[in-house]
Amino acid sequence: MASTARFLLRTSSLSTFARRATVAAAVAPRFTAVRTFASHPPQRPTGVKASSGGMSPLVIAVLAAGAGAAGYHYYVQGSTLPQIASTATSGGEEKKPLDYQKVYNAIAELLEDDNYDDGSYGPIFLRLAWHSSGTYDKNAGNGGSSYATMRFKPESSSSANAGLIIARERLHRVKDKFPDISYGDLWTLAGVCAVQEMGGPIIKWRSGRIDGEEKDCPPEGRLPDGGRADPQHSRDIFYKMGFNDQEIVALLGAHALGRCHRDRSGFDGPWTASPTVFTNSYFTELLGRTWVERKWSGPKQFEDKETKSLMMLPADMAMLKDKEFKKWVEIYAKDEKKFFEDFAKAAEKLFELGCKFDENSKIYEFMPTNA
Ligand code: HEM
Repeated sequence: MASTARFLLRTSSLSTFARRATVAAAVAPRFTAVRTFASHPPQRPTGVKASSGGMSPLVIAVLAAGAGAAGYHYYVQGSTLPQIASTATSGGEEKKPLDYQKVYNAIAELLEDDNYDDGSYGPIFLRLAWHSSGTYDKNAGNGGSSYATMRFKPESSSSANAGLIIARERLHRVKDKFPDISYGDLWTLAGVCAVQEMGGPIIKWRSGRIDGEEKDCPPEGRLPDGGRADPQHSRDIFYKMGFNDQEIVALLGAHALGRCHRDRSGFDGPWTASPTVFTNSYFTELLGRTWVERKWSGPKQFEDKETKSLMMLPADMAMLKDKEFKKWVEIYAKDEKKFFEDFAKAAEKLFELGCKFDENSKIYEFMPTNA
């Protein structure tokens, strides 16, 4: 069964969503968390597609009317170009601000590829966004997504970031099309796009990260170690970013997506049978299966006793060991809607760590391309 599942996960040339259903059926009949778009359409933004943080509708209307001066614009899917204010460059010439929905759409086009992993670059785009943001330390006041320091050594070559070059290189195609976007904006937007396009919640996003330099690289060791089974390790890492226990568990739900790679982290295998669709199945699997230590030559990890096709890291198992963490695992396993809401908020916060935005910066809600 395990090899059948792996074969299907890796080689099926079905569409992402059909592949997922096939794999779920092949691995075990009890993947109750399987979502299809027919029954649960992805959440989509309603009304105005870009809202301004904390501003009254009247102020927005006035600013929108004078968009040329104030730099505000709205997105309406399917309409002609959004109204975008012009920005004067230092040379005095007018420069058109970016249409971020177009950037989003260009990233979305890069997601699916039957020859890569389980058929999507979504999981690795999300991991890039998270690793570029998760270096933030609120006490030191540095790190985070703003300077996109993963372009430089030592961050680019640190073991925690092994494999992320694949995502950075692929996203260069978008950078080539939209050279004005900063790398930090591009990577975090790719994280937003990946979650949404894989059926997850709408994540609010702002632009404004600026490209830094090598000297802005944060110290090594700020990202979590998957081999650490003690809940305190997860707390130490995420508390310094400013997250609480509930947010930590919500963020870990991203492990519904993607897989571990022998040649990157040393670990091996997917957490769920649907690694290209965003669901609460990380939590249902964690709770619903019996996890036993895998007997192999690699680092300590767990496999599901029944099919041996799914995995958990020692750090994932820590979510079951700790009473407070487990409480949230149980809540999210039962209530996918609550998980989606909490994940969206925590991811927005994560992607903004260490960033300074203009007081009136726009908050975008992008329309999924499959909506
Ligand atoms: C205690 C916290 C965490 C630990 C120890 C951890 C560890 C890992 C490890 C070891 C991998 C495998 C990398 C590889 O071999 O390619 C991985 C993959 C992944 N992680 Fe995490 N992670 C954590 C938190 C998060 C968070 C907060 C997110 C996003 C919000 C996230 C998203 C992902 C995704 C999407 C993948 C799959 C990447 C792929 O398929 O290429 N992780 N994580």
